[in-house]
Amino acid sequence: MCKFLYSSYEIKEKMSILENFTEKALQLMQNSHTYRKMRHMVSPESAHVKVVSEGLLKDQLLLASNSYLDLADIPELKQAMASAVLKWGTGSGGARLTTGNKTPHLELEEEIAKFKGEDASITFGTGYMANVGTISALCGKNDIIFSDELNHASIIDGIRLSRAKCYVYRHNDLEDLKRLIAEAMNGNGEKLGSDSVRGWIVTDAVFSMDGDLADLPELLKIARANGVLLMIDEAHATGVVGRTGRGLAEHFGCEHADVTVGTLSKAVACEGGFVAGKSQLIEFLRNKARSFIFTTAMSPAVAFAACNNLRYLEDHPERVQKLQSNVAFFCDALQSFGLNVPRVPSAIVPIVVGDEEKAMRLSFELEKSGILIPAIRYPTVPKGSARLRASLMASHSKKELEIAAEKIAKAIGSVE
Ligand SMILES: Cc1ncc(COP(=O)(O)O)c(C=O)c1O
Repeated sequence: MCKFLYSSYEIKEKMSILENFTEKALQLMQNSHTYRKMRHMVSPESAHVKVVSEGLLKDQLLLASNSYLDLADIPELKQAMASAVLKWGTGSGGARLTTGNKTPHLELEEEIAKFKGEDASITFGTGYMANVGTISALCGKNDIIFSDELNHASIIDGIRLSRAKCYVYRHNDLEDLKRLIAEAMNGNGEKLGSDSVRGWIVTDAVFSMDGDLADLPELLKIARANGVLLMIDEAHATGVVGRTGRGLAEHFGCEHADVTVGTLSKAVACEGGFVAGKSQLIEFLRNKARSFIFTTAMSPAVAFAACNNLRYLEDHPERVQKLQSNVAFFCDALQSFGLNVPRVPSAIVPIVVGDEEKAMRLSFELEKSGILIPAIRYPTVPKGSARLRASLMASHSKKELEIAAEKIAKAIGSVE
């Protein structure tokens, strides 16, 4: 018998190996409170949503979205996307380097470059693919990467795929970063920064669980002083940080990193990831980034909608400023109710409660009172630092935020 054909007994055996393995893994997750379930939302992403909860439909104030400017449900933007489907069809039909490259893709990349103040840009299917493809294209096994310990999973996966040597520095601790660069320099003689061994600092711009910023001006100084390159991921900074939402360089009034990654899935309220930078870098990525080359181009209608949403964002800087004033108001309100929260420079407000189960219970209680705010637990954040992670939108009213802050403070008080 051909060795690839299994008897029914063998098939049963194989199924039970798979079932055993997955069942044990799921049980372990249940026991350690790290099992994840999906919420069922039955309305578009917006400040007010409808959620299925215990079999019932509930209205919730959404304090959990990445759609920071609340652009996903704006009638004129939806209409534009619908028209793009009628014009361009439902799918791209090929990779960007074969037949998938349509006018909307090129217009989107031009718009991103203009928005970010860079020469050029390249888009990917998602922000995750942008990080994984870019890091693994730019860094190889001879290279050295210095990575902030709180970097996003897509950066970590990109580093793993690159096979570069990785030094993880303590979160936003620039002294630790300098110490590790010096250590790597000693280990590599004068080679770090040369053609044969490149060094890279890679960091989130806004840290997704803490809402704090990377210190771009200082990181640039460290990078330049040591002959290493700097890459930042502006997933949560684009449309949020800087007076007009252009990100960290605008916020700090400094130059750009060597490589800037971002996503169109958060404030831009569409889909897709991007890299913006010098033309030659972008040309290199078009030829080397495997998550760009070996995948179908995003649907042209999606590219059109992302470009249209981005133009809307550029035309409405007041939305960015309203978001920023909402965040300041909400942090102040939480503090006035006695909670120890930082005044964050992004749209992510961490309310750390410590205990995993307590965070879960709080999130559950708040959902019952009409506020959707997720509990974030290990392994997404370190053990013992479980938190409610509020993310704000430009469309929240101050009244809603004040009521939410009071309910959160009361809920925390009642489980203490
Ligand atoms: C910092 C960071 N980078 C990248 C991503 C991935 O972006 P996308 O959702 O577009 O894949 C995310 C979130 O999902 C993120 O938080």
